[in-house]
Amino acid sequence: MTRVAFIGVGAMGGLMARRLLDAGHELSVWNRTPAKAEPLVEAGATPAATPAEAVGGAEVVITMVADSAALQAVSEGPEGIAAGATTMLEMSTVGPAAVARLQAALAPDAGLLDAPVLGSLSEAEAGTLQIFVGGSEPLLERVRPLLAELGSPIHVGPLGAGAAAKLVANLTLLGTLGVLGEALALADGLGLAHEQMWEVLEGTPLGAQAERRRGAVESGEYPLRFALALARKDADLVADAAAAAGVEVPLARAVRDWFAEAEAAGWGELDYSSVLGRIMGAR
Ligand SMILES: NC(=O)c1ccc[n+]([C@@H]2O[C@H](COP(=O)([O-])OP(=O)(O)OC[C@H]3O[C@@H](n4cnc5c(N)ncnc54)[C@H](OP(=O)(O)O)[C@@H]3O)[C@@H](O)[C@H]2O)c1
Repeated sequence: MTRVAFIGVGAMGGLMARRLLDAGHELSVWNRTPAKAEPLVEAGATPAATPAEAVGGAEVVITMVADSAALQAVSEGPEGIAAGATTMLEMSTVGPAAVARLQAALAPDAGLLDAPVLGSLSEAEAGTLQIFVGGSEPLLERVRPLLAELGSPIHVGPLGAGAAAKLVANLTLLGTLGVLGEALALADGLGLAHEQMWEVLEGTPLGAQAERRRGAVESGEYPLRFALALARKDADLVADAAAAAGVEVPLARAVRDWFAEAEAAGWGELDYSSVLGRIMGAR
């Protein structure tokens, strides 16, 4: 049993925290909107009034918040976790620069791993997330049993490498959706019948993705799993990290523009896959 402070119990964090609780770990929880922590509190977690209070007495602190601004808000300042955390697992998607900033805010002897996740709500619920871990291997070995409740940890390098790996993985997800959306729009524009369009896509490198998205595209219903605004945030992180590293990513920037355009049109709280409908309806 490990005493865990879980900071950020939104869609993903709520399911991950629940798994830890169900596995018998002792949990203190903090969420900016306290109501979202209530189901966990009813299941035995201890609510905290501030992130700092949640961290008191915890052996491991886990953060799972929206973005780097949220991470700063929960970690820095008098009510933040940075002053009290001794071992910390940063699991949000925030990019390497935010991880470096977090490390600078922590006490010098605190242990930090960046451990963002690939997979969505069903994987979080089932404990089958892929977890990209950056940081010290001995520290990973110490927390591996805890992470194993959530999914499969893969050590990808020093601190920041987990955040970097997550951006690489997400570029493929976002890019695939962008290309699929444009392929569908092109098929429509060139007058291909829908049935034939799906048949053509089936035999392409996007075949699996097309099959997966067909029902949503045809019904126009995109059940929320991952908010489009968060996908736009990830596309920005990719573009920023690439620019900082001097890597040219014009395709990533083009995909980012599709997500930014959809968000500006008020689609930010829809599922990110609704960008397909946005691209198809853009002409
Ligand atoms: N959903 C997915 O499929 C998925 C998959 C892999 C990775 N991720 C990543 O996992 C992270 C969480 O995603 P999610 O889908 O769980 O998002 P979510 O449901 O929107 O949850 C976001 C969490 O961040 C908190 N938050 C936002 N701004 C804050 C601030 N300024 N100060 C303090 N807390 C703040 C929210 O608090 P409130 O409840 O008060 O809003 C909530 O707890 C993101 O980095 C996302 O990119 C998501």
